Amino acid sequence: MEGHGAYNRSSGVQAAGSMPAVDLLKVAGDTADLAPAPQPIVIADYGCSEGRNSLLPMGVAISSLRPRLGADRAISVVHTDLPGNDFSALFAAIESDPTTYLAQDRQVFPSAVGRSFYEQILPSDVVTLGWSSWAVQWLSRVPCPIPDHVQVAYSRDAEACAAFARQAAEDWRTFLFHRAREMREGARLVLLTMATDDSDDFGYQPLLDMMYATLCGMVQDGLISADDLKRMVIPTVGRSRGAFAAPFEHGRFEGLTLERIEIFHGEDRVWGEFESSRDAQRFGAKWAAFSRASLFPSLAAALDDPSKAPSFIPA
Ligand SMILES: C[S@@+](CC[C@H](N)C(=O)[O-])C[C@H]1O[C@@H](n2cnc3c(N)ncnc32)[C@H](O)[C@@H]1O
Repeated sequence: MEGHGAYNRSSGVQAAGSMPAVDLLKVAGDTADLAPAPQPIVIADYGCSEGRNSLLPMGVAISSLRPRLGADRAISVVHTDLPGNDFSALFAAIESDPTTYLAQDRQVFPSAVGRSFYEQILPSDVVTLGWSSWAVQWLSRVPCPIPDHVQVAYSRDAEACAAFARQAAEDWRTFLFHRAREMREGARLVLLTMATDDSDDFGYQPLLDMMYATLCGMVQDGLISADDLKRMVIPTVGRSRGAFAAPFEHGRFEGLTLERIEIFHGEDRVWGEFESSRDAQRFGAKWAAFSRASLFPSLAAALDDPSKAPSFIPA
């Protein structure tokens, strides 16, 4: 993600899209088995980015657990992301954002881990409640270039599609394997991530096609090279219902059971605003800011000289 608080400023689409899962997190908090006192209760937030979108779900999780814990029992909230994440923005948001969960409960202790969730990053058997929103769609690596797009969902290249599908399946198992180690018996994990719907649609097509067309135009204008474009890949996938369920085909996977999968179309808050304002300029600017905050660093990393990147898109 783009750093310096940019993700926090331009991730309202993700925040709105998470709401159905926040309802499930509350149910999970109400029903998870609790570690015996005096052990702290650990809530893990996997792929927190700069944290603003974690504040509400963590607040909901804390409120759902608190009645069974009593006022004095410590709750540890562990936010995790990749080592290069802007953790300063995360801690600033936890400390002073008006929606911070710290304001509601004095026995809550935030911390952070800068390691990939494709490894075990917390001790075994400590997590009571796990949460991850809009993160598990990011693959652990780019399995191959995509010759005809930046997003594999819109590629017609069979080899690229197959390689990404294999990587997505492997990463999903790896992610679950490590969470299974970290979670206590009776813990709950709620994940919100990108999916393909039951007609195999990934969504975002106008945005992604426009992004690719613009990059092709930049090659023609000599702003980036054809080799730069070849390396540009957004390493995200939308998994199908079947792909999510696959590790659980025999009921359990590494001790985990799958309680529920729901695939839904996320709220498009930017479109909703446009319908009332009819301000096309603002509509375009909002989607551009979303794209920049979420995807620009992945594309810029492919440049021969990434230091040139910031001049391409106005802030
Ligand atoms: C789109 S942001 C989501 C942030 C926030 N959870 C939200 O709902 O808005 C995705 C985050 O996942 C993180 N991420 C991607 N791959 C990861 C990995 N292997 N391990 C940990 N975090 C990862 C990214 O660094 C990024 O901060």
